[in-house]
Amino acid sequence: MYIKREELGRDVVRMGEDIIRSARFEKAWSIPHHSKEGNVALHSLSTAACALRYARQLAQRGTVVSEVDLVRAALLHDIGMTEDDVFFSPSRLKAYTHPQEGCRIAREEYGVNDLQADAILHHMWPIGHIPPHSAEGWLIVAADKTCAIHEVERAFLHKMQHPSLRLA
Ligand SMILES: [Fe+2]
Ligand SMILES: [Fe+2]
Repeated sequence: MYIKREELGRDVVRMGEDIIRSARFEKAWSIPHHSKEGNVALHSLSTAACALRYARQLAQRGTVVSEVDLVRAALLHDIGMTEDDVFFSPSRLKAYTHPQEGCRIAREEYGVNDLQADAILHHMWPIGHIPPHSAEGWLIVAADKTCAIHEVERAFLHKMQHPSLRLA
């Protein structure tokens, strides 16, 4: 069964409205991510919608996960990037530190449960070496990478369309 994009967007907002409306998430709109045009907030919303699509496709095959845990952890998976100490650190270091910082912020400011915290902490797998301990966490690993690839590809293609790059 086809899952409509509008339905995914509406349900992401329904399950994570308090997160999306928070001041820290607001800040995430101004933090570039994966491309000059992209940002942490847009990427987090895309990752949540993509993870929810995967979850519903999985449910059609009989495996059911917690959609609320999935969406909330997906919305917060890169929230660690909103910390200046993380954002201004070298990108190699950032890949390791933003999940830890994000996990701390998610617990302190959003009261996430253990499953959500674990999914945030291990979303960069195989970076960090320890995989998530839940199906929800694995869906976020997959959705995060899917969205990151799309964002980088889109930026690349956009650049290729620049008149100076067009072949005569
Ligand atoms: Fe990340
Ligand atoms: Fe991400």
